[in-house]
Amino acid sequence: MKVLGLGGFNVVVFLLSILVLSLAYLLYHLENSDPGPLPISSMSQDINNLRQVYKALNKSCFILGASGETGKVLLKEIVQSQIFTKVTLIGRRKLTSEDATHENVNQEIVDFDKLDEHAAAFQGHDVGFCCLGTTRAKAGEAGFIRVDYDYILKSAQLAKAGGCTHFNLESSKGADKNSSLLYSRIKGQVEAAIEELNFDRYSIFRPGVLMCDRQESRPMEWMARKLLVPVASLFPTVITTPILVLVKAMVNNVLLPSENKMELFHNKHIHELSKLEETKAK
Ligand SMILES: NC(=O)c1ccc[n+]([C@@H]2O[C@H](COP(=O)([O-])OP(=O)(O)OC[C@H]3O[C@@H](n4cnc5c(N)ncnc54)[C@H](OP(=O)(O)O)[C@@H]3O)[C@@H](O)[C@H]2O)c1
Repeated sequence: MKVLGLGGFNVVVFLLSILVLSLAYLLYHLENSDPGPLPISSMSQDINNLRQVYKALNKSCFILGASGETGKVLLKEIVQSQIFTKVTLIGRRKLTSEDATHENVNQEIVDFDKLDEHAAAFQGHDVGFCCLGTTRAKAGEAGFIRVDYDYILKSAQLAKAGGCTHFNLESSKGADKNSSLLYSRIKGQVEAAIEELNFDRYSIFRPGVLMCDRQESRPMEWMARKLLVPVASLFPTVITTPILVLVKAMVNNVLLPSENKMELFHNKHIHELSKLEETKAK
């Protein structure tokens, strides 16, 4: 029994080693795979110069979802960089943080179920950032579709009608309008529906699992993030995206002049684009 037990243990260790090595090989392969060129030219651009040029254009922006994990970091980055003359937060509740009450920041409280009645909130912004979203676990299937499709699409429609020329959507890795998975399908469908609105410039960001200390309790997501910490340090661009990396990529992208009608940033692009500042600082 004892010998058989030891033999069994060895087999389990052997199989586990194979599994870990295969996983490591797969992650290594994905880390080094090519998602295609960055949809925008970021080379030979000086970030400080770009900021000054952009600032001189006196543009305004709105943020949807500024109370969320991405939105609040994005708001901080935008307030600190001072690239917009006016920033409007469009949300369902008033925010009281230092950034949200900054002198250049204005808040519009709306009822997302009656967005048509709040068309004025969407008027006159050059750039829009959408970091809105919920989860199926929190809102149920219908609630998830309502927020992640209906609210986002309606907001984009009102923004377009209100004169917004550059719409930035925080979507997700795996977004695919034909997917059998609800989350990926809705993300893909809303991406596609917004493309039809024909913004002058439309930037889609598809981050991986957002690495942050989420205030809201989401036990499954918390556990996944903990398990992903070692993966993130060895293979940073495969599954995970630190929120600051995403936000820096979104802001850097706005600063970069582009002729693109539509830009799709995969996770690896997001990591690359976020380093614009770092590269220039060297
Ligand atoms: N979590 C991830 O790892 C991950 C990965 C890739 C992509 N994404 C996507 O990235 C986006 C942002 O994610 P996040 O984790 O930063 O978001 P978050 O922290 O969950 O914040 C979501 C934002 O949406 C607002 N919101 C949610 N339900 C709403 C409702 N019923 N009515 C009005 N506003 C509502 C929230 O407002 P309140 O504060 O008022 O609730 C908040 O401002 C989402 O679309 C998400 O699917 C997430």
